Parts: sequence; structure tokens; C-alpha cells
Amino acid sequence: MIKLSHIDVVFKDKHKQPVYAVNDVSLSVDKGEIFGIVGYSGAGKSTLVRVINLLQKPTHGQVVVNGNDMVALGERELRNARKKIGMIFQHFNLMNSRTVYGNVLYPLRHTSLSKLEKQQKINQLLEFVGLSEKRDFYPSQLSGGQKQRVAIARALANDPNVLLCDEATSALDPKTTQSILKLLKELNQKLNLTIVIITHEMQVIKEICDKVAVMQHGQVIEQGDIVSIFSCPKQALTQDFIRKASNIEQAYDSIFNHPSLAEKLKDQHLLELQFVGNNHFSPFISQLYHHYNIETTILYSNLEIIHDLPVGTLIVLLSGDNHTLVDAESFFNKHHISVSRLNSLQHENNYSI
Ligand SMILES: Nc1ncnc2c1ncn2[C@@H]1O[C@H](COP(=O)(O)OP(=O)(O)OP(=O)(O)O)[C@@H](O)[C@H]1O
Ligand SMILES: [Mg+2]
Repeated sequence: MIKLSHIDVVFKDKHKQPVYAVNDVSLSVDKGEIFGIVGYSGAGKSTLVRVINLLQKPTHGQVVVNGNDMVALGERELRNARKKIGMIFQHFNLMNSRTVYGNVLYPLRHTSLSKLEKQQKINQLLEFVGLSEKRDFYPSQLSGGQKQRVAIARALANDPNVLLCDEATSALDPKTTQSILKLLKELNQKLNLTIVIITHEMQVIKEICDKVAVMQHGQVIEQGDIVSIFSCPKQALTQDFIRKASNIEQAYDSIFNHPSLAEKLKDQHLLELQFVGNNHFSPFISQLYHHYNIETTILYSNLEIIHDLPVGTLIVLLSGDNHTLVDAESFFNKHHISVSRLNSLQHENNYSI
């Protein structure tokens, strides 16, 4: 559906030195997939996504979308190819002097549809995004979420099969973000729309993406399906993003700042446990007590369901000496629960465990 091969985008800085906004990126997105690209500011996400519809011409590399070699297309062919690729943005980019209806009409102005067909099409799109009643409103009269819905309707006017979303929920509050993500998921399922989502929030990725690529300094440093990336992130940056998406950072803050922790750590072991999959709904904490007489205090626990697969994290204190720790670790290993020892950690903002 979308195949990017060895894409470079090189700009010149003010000293005429080359800046690799995108550096040798290859990725492919299958039809009907929701593909997330996550990275901090300046990582090259927007530049990369603009390469897909050739708003940004790559300095090097091949871009294939819907079977078209985008770089090789003539002007007219490119215009047609772009109609099949919708795009939405963080700040909606609506035309303030036009109504909701007028904004959605705009991309249809050069089509062969009759006036009536255009009306029907727009009404259908507005109904789809839940804005039928607002058709005569101006953008200034709408909330952020409603504006993004108009932008989505407009992006879908030419029946694209790909939708590019550049930080589409970054200007929205969490509840509105949820509703827009839900709408995108619906579009994906009902229209079999392939969606590429750029974000700096792993929460967004976790919510609806099938696959994710993590970008840093213009490069994709890790990519894969959501379950394997969330359950077994390899790169430090990916781990960092995932920790930020859960509440574990705050949990560590309160645990490490708790006055009684130092006392407890004299004769107890602080561990982080992680498990993936359904087979862990066994009462392993009580088994640990029954088999080894090891007592466990749970300081934090979190269970995420990612694509129907439970991913659990616990921070626990275990009673006992080093022998009991060895027993506990072998017990956890046997049950495919990964263990990180945290006792030696000092309280820092960055927990690189
Ligand atoms: N037209 C341009 N000319 C020169 N440098 C550019 C241009 N566009 C982007 N860059 C540089 O390329 C790098 C990547 O920018 P890009 O906007 O793609 O990052 P991003 O990941 O989308 O960041 P953000 O999350 O802030 O939107 C940055 O260092 C940026 O300054
Ligand atoms: Mg950007």
C-alpha cells in the first residue's frame, strides 16, 4: 500500500550545511493498517509523512503509494494520486471564511460530480463524522474536536484510501482525543482506510495502531507490531515513550521519595515484574508465599490490554535474604515473568532499568 525505501530528506541550514531531516528510512504500511510514527520534536516525523504524498520531495529514495512510484509521476498524475491520500493536521487548517459545508465542498470543486451529488456526498460525510447539525456553522463557532471532524470530512471528500494524520489530536484534550481516535478507527474499519498517524504520545499509538515506528534524529530506530513493541521494547527511547504512556514514572517518583523506603530496602528487595499474556492470571504472588514462604508487598500494579493481550507491570517488595531472591527470580523466570532488580537504583528522573 505504502512503501518507502531508503528515504533521505536533506535540508540546508543557515550555514549551508546539510541537515538530514530524514535519514535512510524504509518502512511499509499494508492496506487497512493503522501505522503510528512516534518521536520527539524535530525527529523528522512531519517531513517523513509529507514524503508519502510528495508534499516533500525526498532527496533520495523511492516512494510507492497505491502502486504509484510517486517521484516518477507527472504533474497531472501526481494530482490524481494525491486525491487518494487525505491528510489532517494538528491545527485543522480549515478555511475560516467558509462554513463547515463550504470547507468540505472545497476539495470537490474540480470534480465531475453534479451539484446534487456534491450535496449528497457532503451530507453523507458530515453525518459520518457526526456534524450534520453544524453544516452552516463557521470554524470559529466550533470546538477543537468539531474542527478536527470537519477536517476529517474534508480529507475524505475525494474517497481516499490513505489518510495521513500529523499530530491530529495534539491540540485536543484527552476526552476529545479519545473521540477522534474512535472515529479514525471507525473509518479504518468501515472504509478499509489505511491510516498513518504521527504523534509524540505513545498513548495514542497504544489506543489504535497496529504497528509503530519510533523515530529519532531522522531515523527509524525501532519498528514492529504494537504487542511486541509494548511488551519487549529494545531501544532506550522506545522504553522511555512506553514508560511515559503508563503511570509508572509517577509511581517511581512516589516510591523513591517515600521516607520509609530506605528502611525497607535494608532487608527487602525492590523488583519490577512484567508479564505478557493470559496465562499469568494465576495467583503467582500467593504461590510464591506457599512454595517459598516469600512475602510480597505490591507497591504498584498496572494492566494494559493491548490488542486483546494483557501486559502487566508490578513494582513489589519481597521479604527475605539473597537466597530467597534467587528462589523468587527462578520462580518468576519459570512463569515467564521478567524481573528487574531496583534496589541499587538511586532516585533519578530517568530510570534506565
Ligand atoms: N523546510 C525546512 N528547512 C530546513 N530544515 C527543516 C525544514 N523542515 C524541517 N526541517 C528540519 O528537519 C528536522 C525535522 O523536522 P520535522 O518537522 O520533520 O520534525 P517533527 O518530528 O515533525 O517535529 P515536531 O514534533 O516538532 O512536529 C528538524 O530539525 C527541522 O528543523
Ligand atoms: Mg511535526
